[in-house]
Amino acid sequence: MCGIVAYVGRKIAQPVLIEGLKRLEYRGYDSAGVAVVDDKGDLHIRRAVGRISVLESAISTTQPLPGATLGMAHTRWATHGAPTEVNAHPHTDDGKQIALVHNGIIENYAALKKFLTDKGHTFTSQTDTEVLAVLIGDLYTELKSKNGNGNGSLLQKAVQAALHEVEGTYGIAVVCKNEPETLVVARKGSPLIIGVGEDEYIVASDASAIVEHTSRVIYLNDNEMAVLKPDSFRTCTIDDIEISPTITQLENKIEEYELGDYEHYMLKEIFEQPNAIRNCLRGRADPREGRIVLGGLANHARELVKAKRIILTGQGTAWHAGLVGDYLMEDLAKVVTECTYASEFRYRNPIVEENTVVVAISQSGETADTLAALREAKEKGALALGVVNVVGSTIARETDGGIYLHAGPEIGVASTKAFTCQCVVMTLLSLFIGRRKFMGQAQCQELIEGLCAIPDQMTRVLEQSDVIRKITHQFCERENWLFLGRGYHYPIALEGALKLKEISYIHAEGMPAAEMKHGPIALINEGMPVVFVATRGLQYDKVISNIEEVRARGGHIIAIATEGDTQIKRYSDHVIYVPDAAEALQPLLSVVPMQLIAYHAAVARGCNVDKPRNLAKSVTVE
Ligand code: F6R
Repeated sequence: MCGIVAYVGRKIAQPVLIEGLKRLEYRGYDSAGVAVVDDKGDLHIRRAVGRISVLESAISTTQPLPGATLGMAHTRWATHGAPTEVNAHPHTDDGKQIALVHNGIIENYAALKKFLTDKGHTFTSQTDTEVLAVLIGDLYTELKSKNGNGNGSLLQKAVQAALHEVEGTYGIAVVCKNEPETLVVARKGSPLIIGVGEDEYIVASDASAIVEHTSRVIYLNDNEMAVLKPDSFRTCTIDDIEISPTITQLENKIEEYELGDYEHYMLKEIFEQPNAIRNCLRGRADPREGRIVLGGLANHARELVKAKRIILTGQGTAWHAGLVGDYLMEDLAKVVTECTYASEFRYRNPIVEENTVVVAISQSGETADTLAALREAKEKGALALGVVNVVGSTIARETDGGIYLHAGPEIGVASTKAFTCQCVVMTLLSLFIGRRKFMGQAQCQELIEGLCAIPDQMTRVLEQSDVIRKITHQFCERENWLFLGRGYHYPIALEGALKLKEISYIHAEGMPAAEMKHGPIALINEGMPVVFVATRGLQYDKVISNIEEVRARGGHIIAIATEGDTQIKRYSDHVIYVPDAAEALQPLLSVVPMQLIAYHAAVARGCNVDKPRNLAKSVTVE
């Protein structure tokens, strides 16, 4: 969740850095800091606990910074050490020659700290990052005493030497007071993007901090680094093997990152879903021919048709989309499918047989467990595909092929439009395979027509936001909610519960409606809100029976039902209607009321909707 912005060029660095930090604010943080190196070779650092505005006002009032053209900034989410000023980044070595910002975790920091302490170095913070700063400073001094200023950047050499000693993950930016025109950046397991401007480079952990300066970017891969100066740049591995960088164009425009007239990014993104789905479908689904075109899978159609097993993997909401995909694949593509948490898959030594396809689902394309699961499956011979939103992200680059969501940037911490686009992509993939196997053209055409109708149908659900708000307000003081659904709606029940927990801090459980009578029914008490997905479909009558069971115990029923279903009112306290759709497509509509319930509950409870509650624990490092 930490954020990095760094700048080297001809402009004054400070405003670029502070604006960049504000763009990263949505990721959550507990402290922030900035460092610049001026042309006299002095290093200036400012840090503050709390919001970026606190740091900004300290700089503009009591602690101004000089007009330097080299600098870096960071938002920290505490992992090692409490959220205090002394633990905030940037960190320096004890000789105050170099400064460093870091995302990731230095796993062997304790051993390195002991080694450096034995050499006489001192530390002021509790962080793993300071250990890396001191190590680089130590190696820099050693190189300087051996080589003088030598050829090339000593800072680069010191960073390379230090990174060879480090176990763990990092995205880092480093500056040195003796090299006031040099910015060194490196990554392993934590994203870092270099924006390439005119005589300037803006480096950030997320494209949102770059997009207002340039759309030309270089994505660093693991174990790669760059040495950036206003008039030159060099990319190489940490072993100093030169690499020629590929400059790519950012997909999203600055306006897509703006909040506009919405109160929160989450609400904006919920309302963007019809358009996000249109973009996701564009050029991919042809209703007249009953054909699915997936450019990113053009070379893998045969392997997909021959696949004996498909493993869908991801975390959180992305895993829920995988679960929808599991139903779709078996229903429409008739292929054995398993949806598994990436965090479990990666550690369980999974069996990956011949003709297995693994599909990693991820909005960011950077989730560590999902990436590790993908690598594990690839290592074992699976065809590795990605369903990713962020273009150029690590997962997107490491797959053999894939399908981008084209949902636009998702800034709100709760995944909404990415989820529905992931479900759309799962549908497209199932049709792509199914049509090449057993599915007739008519069925495929019908489903494509249904998919193309979803954006307008979704708009009709969104128009009920006020109705949903009023229903939600009646229950938002309740601390326990249940979300129930069957078949395609079981993952939607899980997603409804996750959204409510994550954004409103209300305890919620999601489960298959039939599972309730096997124990959890004991939880139901007078007035407990229970959200049922009760749309028309194969299991409608069974869902009605489940509703009766809950009502008998005093639960309050909020039913999500199909437009025109009047009988549902007899069984429910409140009904939210969604348009009729083929059963396989219904999750795309039934999830929208779930998202709105979570949003309105969070707002009513005064929760910080776009940023998660800070769960950082203070970990003392001895
Ligand atoms: C929930 C949410 C998370 C993410 C999960 C995976 O609202 O956003 O559960 O879905 O952390 O993230 P990505 O999709 O970026 O891999």
